Amino acid sequence: MKPLNLFEYETLAKDNLSQMAWDYYVSGAGDEVTLRNNRYAWERFQLRPRMLVDVSQRNLSTQIFGISQELPILIAPMAFQCLANPAGEIATAKAAANMGITMILSTMATKSMEEVAAVKQQGNQWFQLYVHRDRGLTKSLVERAYNSGFQALCLTVDAPLLGRRERDARNQFALPPGMTLANLATYKDLEITQQEGESGLFAYFAQQLDPGLTWADVEWLRSLSPLPLIIKGILRGDDALRAVEHGANGIIVSNHGGRQLDGAIATIDALQEVVTAVGSQAEVLVDGGIRRGTDILKALALGAKAVLVGRPILWGLAVGGSQGVQHILELLRDELDLAMALSGCPTLGDIDFSLIKL
Ligand code: FNR
Ligand code: LAC
Repeated sequence: MKPLNLFEYETLAKDNLSQMAWDYYVSGAGDEVTLRNNRYAWERFQLRPRMLVDVSQRNLSTQIFGISQELPILIAPMAFQCLANPAGEIATAKAAANMGITMILSTMATKSMEEVAAVKQQGNQWFQLYVHRDRGLTKSLVERAYNSGFQALCLTVDAPLLGRRERDARNQFALPPGMTLANLATYKDLEITQQEGESGLFAYFAQQLDPGLTWADVEWLRSLSPLPLIIKGILRGDDALRAVEHGANGIIVSNHGGRQLDGAIATIDALQEVVTAVGSQAEVLVDGGIRRGTDILKALALGAKAVLVGRPILWGLAVGGSQGVQHILELLRDELDLAMALSGCPTLGDIDFSLIKL
């Protein structure tokens, strides 16, 4: 039976994944308080639908940085997608292209950015950057992304060190033989001195990523390519303003799906403060716990331009490869379409703050 919603995909995905992969994908940091809150926070908000509006024609398309998108949905950057399906990030990219939406490719991908760029077609692709201590390597990642046709750079700022996910520590998370960090020839196999009782990825971040990154480096990053820069992992209005002052074109309100600082604010609770702070100076996107079309409606009503979806994409990939990912996106599209009809919003432009009960 075809799954009816994203939660049913999650249940099915568990059976298609190794214990190590499932734990890595599903878990959050610490006690997973933020992971749970990301979800509950969407449920807390109530809608005030408008009646007797002509909703016979609906339009879900939008523009982000002037680039057309069929839906206000992007695929969040997520590492190691070959753990879900041998085609990994290639399968995800094909689904994004078929749906006319943007995929954000992780630095920690298991397919190289050049391979993924080759399946772009009419879709859009952004590259997510982790800044390594080796600045030459970091610079070459940005240059490769630009040269292979990625349309924007997404700098993740909430991971100077990796959050401690205890299931990964217990499993001593490592990539299975044959799977590599395809963008990082130098450190291809996650070959690091793995310590007893620790995740290999945690150790990789501690050894290779630069925890000394500051706002001053954002300007250096901007100078490396003409690509628009989006800062991912902002949870406060003052940080969002600082991002704009340092030349960011967009902000992603995110707590990394509850995988970094446990106890961090749920993203929907941070969204309004960020939107108010930046006004029209930057586009604001949000992610974390989005599982229903009504969550997307709420995010847009609170001022987000679009949302990113994370784990459900991996569930689609594990269950049905590229088609599974596409079905996840179709489910969200259909749910959003229905929610718009039922709330009196024929276009995304009709979704405004008055839909939210204060
Ligand atoms: C992530 N996320 C992430 N973010 C990032 O900037 N670079 C990365 O490489 C990864 N890798 C990654 C792997 C896995 C398995 C997950 C689940 C998440 C965070 C991701 O982009 C996004 O912020 C959250 O996943 C959004 O929350 P939901 O939709 O998963 O609840
Ligand atoms: C994660 C990193 C890779 O969340 O962003 O696992």
